[in-house]
Amino acid sequence: MRIVLFTGKGGVGKTTTAAATAVRAARSGLATLVMSTDAAHSLGDALGRDLTTTAESGGAVIEVEPGLHALQVSTPHRVDRSWRVVQDYLLELLATVGVDPVVAEELTSLPGAEEIAALLELRARAESGRWDLIVVDCAPTAETLRLLALPEALAWHLERLLPVQRGLLRSLRPAAAAATGMPLPGVEVAATVRGWATQMRDVQRLLTSEQASVRLVLTPERVVIAESRRTWTSLSLYGFVVDQVIVNRVFPDARADAQARGGRARPDPWRAAWNAAQQEGLAEVLESFAGVPVATSPYLAHEPIGVDALAALAADRVGDDPATLVSPVQKRGLAVRRVGDDYVLSLPLPLVDAAQVDLKRRDEELLVVVGDHRRVLTLPAVLKRCTVRSAAVRDGTLRVRFTPDASVWPPGRLVPAAGTDDEGRPTAAGEGSARG
Ligand SMILES: Nc1ncnc2c1ncn2[C@@H]1O[C@H](COP(=O)(O)OP(=O)(O)O)[C@@H](O)[C@H]1O
Ligand SMILES: [Mg+2]
Repeated sequence: MRIVLFTGKGGVGKTTTAAATAVRAARSGLATLVMSTDAAHSLGDALGRDLTTTAESGGAVIEVEPGLHALQVSTPHRVDRSWRVVQDYLLELLATVGVDPVVAEELTSLPGAEEIAALLELRARAESGRWDLIVVDCAPTAETLRLLALPEALAWHLERLLPVQRGLLRSLRPAAAAATGMPLPGVEVAATVRGWATQMRDVQRLLTSEQASVRLVLTPERVVIAESRRTWTSLSLYGFVVDQVIVNRVFPDARADAQARGGRARPDPWRAAWNAAQQEGLAEVLESFAGVPVATSPYLAHEPIGVDALAALAADRVGDDPATLVSPVQKRGLAVRRVGDDYVLSLPLPLVDAAQVDLKRRDEELLVVVGDHRRVLTLPAVLKRCTVRSAAVRDGTLRVRFTPDASVWPPGRLVPAAGTDDEGRPTAAGEGSARG
């Protein structure tokens, strides 16, 4: 079973590309489910089928054609209700007890029930054993990143709050309710919180396993490419592998057309200008996403709506290898290896340089911040007893070198500086090493 998630900037053709991929996969014999987590219910529009079902069911699977099923996720009331109980409790708790300020900061952006419902739905479908392939049509980039970062972050919060809860239960329970109005977690709330934490860890494991990958859909335009580059970096930060970039809406070449019409016809200048701009865009895509397979899809003269039009669009795609929909994903996530007496933690972080990465060591955690995105890495046991010696970003990978030592590593920022990298080789200025 494979999960392929499609995301990209708004309007570039995510839904169309996801649906076309699903139709082709189903017709090649894979038991395929295409589901949408985007609240803009356009998957049904692309397939030419109404996918709306009752909210109580959380959305139901609809057969589109033999081998192809579709699902428009909606938030079932039970998820909505039970999550709201946890959410309200957490917020109340936060307001009354001295919670770690970092936790407090993170908690101000508690996710909504829709996002959680979508993740739980995906996990349930993945575990059903019914599908060879699950294609996920995601919301535009920003929301998708929020969704994908959610399981780990939420599990982290919930686990962090469990000890607080237990402490409260032990020391305050008898008197507190009357005296302070302190919200006391009922036994059910505590159990629910624990349940959510476990489920989110499961979703996280599934999405970062070799069963899941992300495909970035874009159009060959500068603004879109710029956003897609940032998306790739952020996805990598959270441990997700992008295994394909699909350039959609590529115009047919005006010159080739003119030549085919006998060489005398002059190419249409409007289209020739777009051709030139798109060629530049394509070159930038190939350079930016070096190492990731890039496929292109033509700009059709009509909207591809309905299964046959989508199948035709998928067949017209250049550089697409359908075998990648069944083969396991080459994982390039977080890794730790031994180098002499030290350990090197590495995390792929493409398209950034050291100046854009912020690192903070906090007890058993390493906080990695890139732009608006942050990830709290819980360090493996062996690294908890180490101090950070140096850090560098090179060849699209962040490497942090840890030395077994009891002394404390002061929080620092990666600064452009000449030094040595994690393997002891001299680094050029601009690659950076950790201060302190
Ligand atoms: N290759 C293409 N050729 C022609 N029209 C396209 C192509 N890809 C997408 N479209 C059309 O563009 C619009 C937006 O596509 P959609 O897949 O809904 O984008 P997104 O999901 O990224 O918002 C739709 O009307 C769709 O039919
Ligand atoms: Mg869409």
